[in-house]
Amino acid sequence: MHAESWGGGGSRPLRNASPSSLLDRPTWTSSPRGQAYTEVLARIEAVLEGETDWIAAMASVACELHTTFGHYDWTGFYRHLGGEMLVIGPYQGGHGCLRIPFARGVCGAAARTRVTQLVPDVHAFPGHIACASSTQSEIVIPVLTPDGRVLAVLDVDSDAPDAFTAADDQAALERLCAWLGGRWAHEAPDHAQVGASRT
Ligand code: SME
Repeated sequence: MHAESWGGGGSRPLRNASPSSLLDRPTWTSSPRGQAYTEVLARIEAVLEGETDWIAAMASVACELHTTFGHYDWTGFYRHLGGEMLVIGPYQGGHGCLRIPFARGVCGAAARTRVTQLVPDVHAFPGHIACASSTQSEIVIPVLTPDGRVLAVLDVDSDAPDAFTAADDQAALERLCAWLGGRWAHEAPDHAQVGASRT
């Protein structure tokens, strides 16, 4: 499937394309931020070449992203191990909540709906979980397997309001998460679709 059918814009098909390369047909812009994404995704692809361990992958991705972008203040993964619960994974930044039910917060909404949550003002998001009072905006991208199971979510929080863009942050991070979800699909719980809904 071509990248244009799922990148950016928030209208993602339930079944998730998994690009074989992170940089094949990029959908983000060539702005300075877009260029930075092109470079960091290239680094991630190179760093993870031949790596099979999912924890090592998440840790490397969190580090590469967090140390690249000044608007990232918390960067990390919540893993789906089964049931309607997320458990914290590798991250960079201050203390993160350990477990987030699918029913709660921005991370829960991303896992429940399987759609990216781009939140310009966390105070306007019902049920937002404030792990850090400094957080003003965030983006959470579901990491889906090609057959639609939830493997994890990637959560990025910023201390600046409206810090993330659909054209660059969302488009590039969705590409990254689709790639991760394809490569580590075997780590996702088989029954992950139980209870998942589009609302
Ligand atoms: N802001 C998230 C919670 C995770 S922490 O902030 C790291 C949410 O509402 O889902």
